[in-house]
Amino acid sequence: MARRALEGLPRIIGGTPLIDLKRLAPDLRSRVLVKAERSNPGGSVKDRTALAMLLDAIDSGEVDPEHSVVVESSSGNLGVGLAQVCRYFGLRFVCVVDAKTTTRNLQLLRAYRAEVEVVEQPDAESGEFLPARLRRVSELVAATPAAYWPNQYANPNNPRAHRRTMREIDRALDGRVDFLFVSVGTFGTLRGCAEYIREHALNTRVIGVDAVGSVIFDQPRAPRLLPGHGASIRPPLTDHALVDEVVHVSDLDAVVGCRTLLQREAILAGGSSGAVTAALLGHRDRIPEGSTCVLIHPDGGDRYLDTVYDDDWVFDTFGEVSHLWKEAATGSAAPTG
Ligand SMILES: Cc1ncc(COP(=O)(O)O)c(C=O)c1O
Repeated sequence: MARRALEGLPRIIGGTPLIDLKRLAPDLRSRVLVKAERSNPGGSVKDRTALAMLLDAIDSGEVDPEHSVVVESSSGNLGVGLAQVCRYFGLRFVCVVDAKTTTRNLQLLRAYRAEVEVVEQPDAESGEFLPARLRRVSELVAATPAAYWPNQYANPNNPRAHRRTMREIDRALDGRVDFLFVSVGTFGTLRGCAEYIREHALNTRVIGVDAVGSVIFDQPRAPRLLPGHGASIRPPLTDHALVDEVVHVSDLDAVVGCRTLLQREAILAGGSSGAVTAALLGHRDRIPEGSTCVLIHPDGGDRYLDTVYDDDWVFDTFGEVSHLWKEAATGSAAPTG
């Protein structure tokens, strides 16, 4: 990714820790490691994507820090990642969010001095916010001189950034990765990792973790509660051939995955990390003893304190379900699904 020496904040993006989890699934008799992307300075895997897209645009001359205005649609981690990198390079950034964006994310965007545009109404036809946000981005790009739209859904620098993510895993484990569990949203992380795996002929099975209700793998669209993984429109970066198996995880199972991780490993993980964890636990019968499994955890749980980690929210949303992670924690049951 880096075509020049990086310094300051960009230099500390990536190089995230790999944590050996000894307590999550001892019955697997396999090594389980987590690539903890929350350790990026902006708190998520999207710091890598934001930096790669902007560096390329600056290096190619498409973006000029004096005049350009970056415009992007994101209600979450990419927005924060771009806001951080734009601040570093002195770029104006307009972030198009929607009425579902959390107060915490709005506060973060504003703290980095991003200009926030809120889309209040979902798309009339689909009832989804994403098409409405993308429409607003097009209007802003057309109306703003020197606007630059990174478009994470189609930008090749999104997956390119994650070749490095996989290279870090590969080098840390001397190429010994039997299973990689990775969540999908734009398909950027999975695509970059899978392309690296193919190019380096690694013997790694790629397990794509999607949300129930997401259309990425041609399932029927349905409402989803947790942001991050899953999509209501199939992203142009999608390539089903790069995935060996797909696991669809429900919102409830993602919550149980998060709560189980917290209970067993004291790791406060985000919703898609819980989904990836639930996918591993649900997949246990197909993992031969002695395997090495790596889970990419895209962000931390601090952005989910009002949902995944709020007992009232969990009760109001799913009913009395705490036995699911308590049983999982004593080894008597895996998360459902
Ligand atoms: C928390 C979280 N998990 C998973 C994903 C999906 O990653 P990708 O867009 O690389 O497919 C995202 C993307 O924004 C995310 O924010």
